[in-house]
Amino acid sequence: MLVDGIGELVTNDGGEGDPLGVRRDAALLIEDGQVAWIGSARDAPAADRRIDAGGAAVLPGFVDSHAHLVFAGDRAAEFAARMAGEPYTGGGIRTTVGATRAASDGELRATVARLRGEAMRQGTTTIEIKSGYGLTVADEARSLRIAAEFTEHTTFLGAHVVPPEYADRPDDYVGLVCGPMLAAAAPYARWIDVFCERGAFDADHARAILACGQAVGLGVRVHANQLGPGPGVQLGVELGAASVDHCTHLSDADIDVLASTGTTWVSGFEPTTVATLLPGAEFSTRSPYPDARRLLDAGATVALATDCNPGSSYTSSMPFCIALAVREMRMTPAEAVWAATAGGAAALRRTDVGRLARGARADLIILDAPSHLHLAYRPGVPLIRQVLHNGVPQCPQ
Ligand code: NIG
Ligand code: FE
Repeated sequence: MLVDGIGELVTNDGGEGDPLGVRRDAALLIEDGQVAWIGSARDAPAADRRIDAGGAAVLPGFVDSHAHLVFAGDRAAEFAARMAGEPYTGGGIRTTVGATRAASDGELRATVARLRGEAMRQGTTTIEIKSGYGLTVADEARSLRIAAEFTEHTTFLGAHVVPPEYADRPDDYVGLVCGPMLAAAAPYARWIDVFCERGAFDADHARAILACGQAVGLGVRVHANQLGPGPGVQLGVELGAASVDHCTHLSDADIDVLASTGTTWVSGFEPTTVATLLPGAEFSTRSPYPDARRLLDAGATVALATDCNPGSSYTSSMPFCIALAVREMRMTPAEAVWAATAGGAAALRRTDVGRLARGARADLIILDAPSHLHLAYRPGVPLIRQVLHNGVPQCPQ
């Protein structure tokens, strides 16, 4: 299949100084779900089928590297209370844990399917899905089993909070997470994550849990420095985490250590510890946004993701996060689009998504707009005209 009539093709393959690698009047050939050729439209090879982009912008599909989709119920009343001045503390996680435990497999599966569909219609072709609202051996295992029906990037977050029944014996809960819960979860998980924060898990507990996960082959990610300064970022880098997520309260030392792991778009796709920013959470908790400029100017690799969950960020929209990152975090539109595509891929240690080059997965979006700039310039407007996943058109809308 040939995609031509592309006014602007974002490849993320331009090298240093040109991270988006924008090509004009380009065409792209898809074979067996992969990009087989990219070049100038006038040199395009013949193909059986053709999509005419009509002068629109074409981008790699978004890579949402942080989402909590396996849950039941919602917390709209908690959101309303916050908008009336209540602070966000993470305490509502336990409300969702109660609802999730009470839900059937079918109810949980239907919620994941609904949110995955919502995300796909907004251009997300790769998504990470965490457990973390079960917090029993059986409920964490089933959360991950259901998540694995929708993505290869499943993350075991048994250490989200200490559940009420372990409130006065957190050491025992850490033992449960590292022992029987990890054993039951690992067959369905690719990653392990810990909410390393005051009121959740301290550095010692987080290190112990992440090390257990690493020992059975899971990759490391950390919820770090969301609600206040803390040890999460340093711990993540120490353990070689693919990503430390939130990064809302960073010290100079945190920034330095993240920058020291390297910049993906300069050094090529080397394993770095990515700083994944989740502006939907700051929006929905009315918190100060992370200082993306400090991270970027220091040379850290930055990703954007939704954090989709019923408490702190109930959005599945990567275009919304791009708009927030540009308007509220002073990222340039190019930096934000890169962070939502190649940045997310780096956070999941993937080289075959988040970019459009020969051999990459044919995951791409055709905008109802001539340029990637419109994603931030036209906030809230449904600009995703068509999504191709593995080369297959998903949702003519
Ligand atoms: O990433 N911070 C921890 N976990 C989620 C929020 C979960 C919730 O409030 O239900 C987050 O923001
Ligand atoms: Fe999260």
